[in-house]
Amino acid sequence: MERLAYDIAIVGGGAAGLRAAIAAAETSRSLRIVVVSKVYPMRSHTVSAEGGTAAVLRDYDSFDSHGFDTVKGSDFLADQDAVEFFVRRAPGEIVQMEHWGCPWSRDPDGHVAVRAFGGMSVKRTAFAADKVGFHMLHTLFQTSLKYESIERLDEWFVTQILVEGGKVVGVAALELKSGAIKAISAKAVIIATGGAGRVYEFTTNGAIKTGDGMALAYRAGAALKDMEFLQFHPTCLPGTGILITEAARGEGGYLVNSKGERFLKKYVPEKMELGPRDILSRSIIQEIREGRGFEGPYGPHVGLDLRHLGEEVIDKKLPMVRELAEEYAGIDPVHELIPVRPGQHYIMGGVHTDITGFTGVAGLYAAGEAACVSINGANRLGSNSLSECLVFGAEAGRSAASFAMTRPPVGSNPVSALVKAEESRVFDGLLKREGGENLADVRRDMQHTMDESVGIYRSGEVLEKAVSHLRDLQWRWDRVGVRDKDPFFNTELTATLELDYMLELAEVIAKAALLRKESRGAHSRTDFPKRDDANYLTHSMALRSATGPQFDGLPVRITKWQPAARVY
Ligand code: FUM
Repeated sequence: MERLAYDIAIVGGGAAGLRAAIAAAETSRSLRIVVVSKVYPMRSHTVSAEGGTAAVLRDYDSFDSHGFDTVKGSDFLADQDAVEFFVRRAPGEIVQMEHWGCPWSRDPDGHVAVRAFGGMSVKRTAFAADKVGFHMLHTLFQTSLKYESIERLDEWFVTQILVEGGKVVGVAALELKSGAIKAISAKAVIIATGGAGRVYEFTTNGAIKTGDGMALAYRAGAALKDMEFLQFHPTCLPGTGILITEAARGEGGYLVNSKGERFLKKYVPEKMELGPRDILSRSIIQEIREGRGFEGPYGPHVGLDLRHLGEEVIDKKLPMVRELAEEYAGIDPVHELIPVRPGQHYIMGGVHTDITGFTGVAGLYAAGEAACVSINGANRLGSNSLSECLVFGAEAGRSAASFAMTRPPVGSNPVSALVKAEESRVFDGLLKREGGENLADVRRDMQHTMDESVGIYRSGEVLEKAVSHLRDLQWRWDRVGVRDKDPFFNTELTATLELDYMLELAEVIAKAALLRKESRGAHSRTDFPKRDDANYLTHSMALRSATGPQFDGLPVRITKWQPAARVY
């Protein structure tokens, strides 16, 4: 069996993964680093990030202000030492990106431009028009090419993290082109595979965001933290779920109901369109439920009004918003309202890590949306996530490098044996399977269940049924037949593997939501409408067991901001 040997294997080629690779390469020239990605890195979901990346870049701003906004936005569930670390490191990362050639938008005096974003008390979101992820990903990708020590395995799908005696020894990956499973030995592995939005039906997330890395780490023994906290972005195009960036509101756009009212004055009078996402999403749902939404071919929605901004501002600062609205909703925002409604966008939870990206499993690190440090707590502020990818991607890269430099090479014996077992699981157990269940039916059922039962509003009764239904779906997944037996680029096989990961994560999400009997940030329980600091100022920690997730709590780390009522 062919075995590829590296010091560090990074799973995922988006912002966090590439930033980690560069940081590791800069830590030591002698390390051999590989970025393994199921897609070509420029197709990673980072490419679709739109509105901006937050950092303290102006004299009027401060670390305390960015830190407090983030902690308040998180409904006091973020770990405050991690937040303080994050806000201090973020500006350096933006400047570093500038030096690597990121084409930030500029103020007339040449400064990197910053715009307003929800929940941020001052303008601190750097941007490159409304294609920020695209430009950041290009910048990171091009920079990574400078380092000979960074190799890439594009279109390789990691199916398992290999663990021997409690230590990571590499990964097993399916080379999509050949259909072969290969062994990649590594002293350290960094998970940077992004989120799991495809567990839901109505989501801004690309088809590739199937939570692979979270499920892989969970299976390797890492804990999943705060998985009940899902972010629903207030402004998505009905029908497709395509994101209409918060930058549209940051630049002055209004949300209006069918009576033409700026209804947010009832819900977030001080912040209006720049309130945090959890509160805005609930406000939109309330307006719709009370009959003040617009009806449309893809269901009820509210309107996003940019008309008063004028064509020049829209074309200069929000060109992609105009393009998306024209292409996917058939309207021109210069003259018409954009139809919008909330959709799943981000998961605050993920693989538990400390500030260095370490997961608690020897040799295993995580960063970006796949990880939960936690700086986002119960609700992330828009534009903190790209900065998070940079700050904690770099940190994970450095930590993994330092760890790898102290370790002897991984021997071939454990890796070969582990990969043989993985080959048999995937090829004999799955590819040859002739079950009567249909992959798409099971996936649709899971997504529908999550949308209907584990969405913006939740209740114990509904969650309980969802948990049991999701278990049934796991049983059905065991009977999904793979009809395409061809080894080459077998997307049915990879989709079946992805569904397995998603079903496991969906169960953790629903069960964590059931167990958290309070409302906090994006987790809104109709049967427990209040925040309960006495009992729930803790992270939920899920560990895998033969009977499903086992939960424990981890206290929130508080440094200087005592929990207080969250009023905007
Ligand atoms: O609306 C947006 O541009 C999204 C940004 C984010 O999720 O950080």
